[in-house]
Amino acid sequence: MTHDLWTDVDAYIVDTLHAGDHDVEAALLAGDAAGLPAIAVSPPHGKLLYLLARLARAERILEIGTLGGFSAIWLARALPPTGQLVTLELEPSHARVARESLDRAGVGDRTEVRVGPAAASLKSMIADGEAMFDMVFIDADKEGYPAYLESAMQLTRTGSVIVADNTVRDGAVRDADSSDAAVRAVRRYNAMVAADARLTGTAIQTVGLKGYDGFTIAVRCD
Ligand code: SAH
Ligand code: DHB
Ligand code: MG
Repeated sequence: MTHDLWTDVDAYIVDTLHAGDHDVEAALLAGDAAGLPAIAVSPPHGKLLYLLARLARAERILEIGTLGGFSAIWLARALPPTGQLVTLELEPSHARVARESLDRAGVGDRTEVRVGPAAASLKSMIADGEAMFDMVFIDADKEGYPAYLESAMQLTRTGSVIVADNTVRDGAVRDADSSDAAVRAVRRYNAMVAADARLTGTAIQTVGLKGYDGFTIAVRCD
């Protein structure tokens, strides 16, 4: 009942505010056709990422967890033509689908999909002196979030925005005694944001066609 209502309202939002936006729908269909799991952010949340990137005037964005490129298309669209999105993906099959969808959406020129475990890609980006990112979107394996935040801090600057998906987890995040590894990791992630004097942030609970979850959003203020 409640989930049906959230889904209906998401349909209303998309009909009203995203009318005619076919490139992102095509990316979801391509992911489904290739058998990818249906775990992309919802269309309104994809557009929220786009809006945050626009508000931050981001010219370089890092995404951790590409899947079929749905959130990547939204992020890449927010960039100026000279901007760059680097998106990290473990699975070569996911990266292939993402590459095709990014190209079809017309943002392939400004997007690099790097295949491999994100921890290793981040380590080499830091070692190679990769230019700073204005925004980071963390959405890969939840157990990796604390380490991804540490890497993100080495790849960002004052004013950069760091967003993490799936940090509310049907409300399970409030359970300090949870034995669920993902819940423990996102709790640790939130505690790291809180404890780091270089960051200020909050978590936003979300509902919609993907259920009940949330984003942790932080800005670097050092
Ligand atoms: N951001 C996407 C959804 C990402 S789903 C969107 O909203 O459209 C999570 C993705 O992270 C999956 O494709 C999964 O293969 C990838 N992933 C899981 N573990 C990873 C790791 N260690 N390194 C990089 N990617 C990983
Ligand atoms: C899963 C991962 C996600 O990033 C998400 O938004 C929803 C579900 C998952 O691994 O099940
Ligand atoms: Mg997610």
